[in-house]
Amino acid sequence: MTTPVTLIPGDGIGPSISDATVRILTAAGADIAWDNQVAGIAGVSRWGDPMPDATLDSIKQTRVALKGPLETPVGEGFRSVNVALRKAFDLYANVRPAKTIVPGRFDNIDLVLVRENTEGLYIGHEHYVRIGDDPRAAAESIAVITRFGSERIVRYAFEHALAHGRKKVTLVHKANILKYSQGLFLDTGRMVAREYEGRVQFEERIIDAMAMHLVMRPEQFDVIVTTNLFGDILSDEISGLVGGLGMTPGANIGTTAAIFEAVHGTAPDIVGMGIANPGALLLAGCMLCDHIGQHAVATRVRRAFEQTVKDERFRTRDLGGTASTDQFTDAVVAALG
Ligand code: NAI
Repeated sequence: MTTPVTLIPGDGIGPSISDATVRILTAAGADIAWDNQVAGIAGVSRWGDPMPDATLDSIKQTRVALKGPLETPVGEGFRSVNVALRKAFDLYANVRPAKTIVPGRFDNIDLVLVRENTEGLYIGHEHYVRIGDDPRAAAESIAVITRFGSERIVRYAFEHALAHGRKKVTLVHKANILKYSQGLFLDTGRMVAREYEGRVQFEERIIDAMAMHLVMRPEQFDVIVTTNLFGDILSDEISGLVGGLGMTPGANIGTTAAIFEAVHGTAPDIVGMGIANPGALLLAGCMLCDHIGQHAVATRVRRAFEQTVKDERFRTRDLGGTASTDQFTDAVVAALG
């Protein structure tokens, strides 16, 4: 059955990598009706709004979107695109798989980071504190962690592990210092973990030690679940372990919609040069196909993608090669068989 999906090509290199992605998914037999919408700078150009209502309405209808990188215009009065999307669709789980394809420093990383996306220090409750005559003598940021939010993100991690045949969930925290907020996350996580005993292993790591373990022996990790700020930092660290931002897709899963994207930005330094790597957005497209039940397409594309990047002739510049976006895309389509 044809599935309607909102497509936001994005800014900068976005349209070029979106074209490549749609071309490959279509060649692999994806049965998707793309509803093209704009956001970011393209949204400002067309509707005077980086997150136009027409785009939000489309996602409300389709409940699934593939999003290219977006530039949030500088200046007051513009709403932040990511915040608007997170709020509109309660996108609470940020899911970032990372897998070694081109062997580098590590040969067999295959892990998924599940980051809580709506709570913690990122809720934006900040203010200055006056001391004496200085109105900005100090600043205070409030981290809010709820039992509800902790339970649903840890449960999401376990369910993801079960659904994808993964064996272990590592919960990352700092409860030894932040005894209330992180303590609540850890306690709730332990409670959820008990329900999965015998089906999925569970372990705990303190964030600072985790950062070290990841660069020393990343192969030992399977599914990692953590709070917002720690997840933000670890996810970029993990991207670096598997060949950089051009290889890492992300999914934002919400209660009313799921939005799939490349982790990287608009790459202003290479716009128009025809050398962008569409890999991250393509892998996000594979996650999307899995999400809508088109697993065979996802598997076929992943296989063709892996075969292509293993061949030096087809690597783009960010992976140390000289191939153009078009040459890379042609090679993936050819590898579909
Ligand atoms: P960036 O990710 O756009 O670029 C960092 C470096 O990686 C650049 O050298 C770029 O050429 C390279 N790069 C990124 N993606 C690539 C790809 N697919 N192929 C080859 N090389 C690639 O990060 P930067 O420069 O900090 O941000 C640029 C703009 O992107 C900003 O306006 C920022 O706000 C926006 N941005 C948007 C995101 C989103 O919509 N999800 C995420 C991150 C940044």
